[in-house]
Amino acid sequence: MSGPVVIVRSVAALRAQVSAWRKDGLTVALVPTMGALHAGHLSLVKRGLELADCCVASVFVNPTQFGPNEDFARYPRQEELDAAALASAGCHVLFAPDVAEMYPDGFATTVSVSGVSEGLCGAVRPGHFAGVATVVTKLLLQCLPDIALFGEKDYQQLAVIRRFARDLDIPVRIEGVPTLREDDGLAMSSRNAYMTPDQRAIAPWLFRALTGIADGLRAGAKAADLCPMAISGLLKAGFDSVDYIEVRDAASLAPAESLDRPLRILAAARLGKTRLIDNIGVEP
Ligand code: PAF
Repeated sequence: MSGPVVIVRSVAALRAQVSAWRKDGLTVALVPTMGALHAGHLSLVKRGLELADCCVASVFVNPTQFGPNEDFARYPRQEELDAAALASAGCHVLFAPDVAEMYPDGFATTVSVSGVSEGLCGAVRPGHFAGVATVVTKLLLQCLPDIALFGEKDYQQLAVIRRFARDLDIPVRIEGVPTLREDDGLAMSSRNAYMTPDQRAIAPWLFRALTGIADGLRAGAKAADLCPMAISGLLKAGFDSVDYIEVRDAASLAPAESLDRPLRILAAARLGKTRLIDNIGVEP
């Protein structure tokens, strides 16, 4: 199946399309996004089409996951470009609901996940993961895909989604897809477009900081020594502030000190008004 992407805006139209596929015995992948699509998103579509017959990508800039002083209003919106990119990747349906379709009058439900939502980005962005969990729960129930794909760049988000999908018995396979990087190591992100050329030149130091910590852990050093040095290095490189750099257990996200099991090193730092996040895995 290939051709132009079909744009649907209502839950009813999405369900009709998915039911038609199901009647033909076809399986369905869902790629939830907020648009401003880049190669990283298209790699999720590609992987979705390796694992299922049909692919739906949703584009919805979800107001409930943005704090009052965050970038909801200026978040890039470019539906025509996104539709063309999805068509070129072989995606079949673009689900693009408006806010009233997603949150009709009287909407009053929040999905909130304790434990994995706390700390890291959860500490700096109160309410963010409840907004993500609520909208992703809705998207999963609206589409009822066999598989839903998310980038590992948002590693804590992926852990939150795995947690509530399991806790709520949502019958879907959650698949994490490795981060795509620019040639200089910067993780691809829709927010990279906010940066000035000077900020863009500094940004790859975030990935270098993570790989430096991974090297230190492999050499036997402790997170408590490595992370403060990495923070100083980022500030010296030109970052305005560092929200966190932490070493966590790769599966549970519990704090970790040394390389005695698979770990994840996660960071968030700010260049002007742009907040960048990144993470890498490190194995014993
Ligand atoms: O990662 C994102 O783009 C968003 O947080 C998601 C998963 C589409 C929910 O709005």
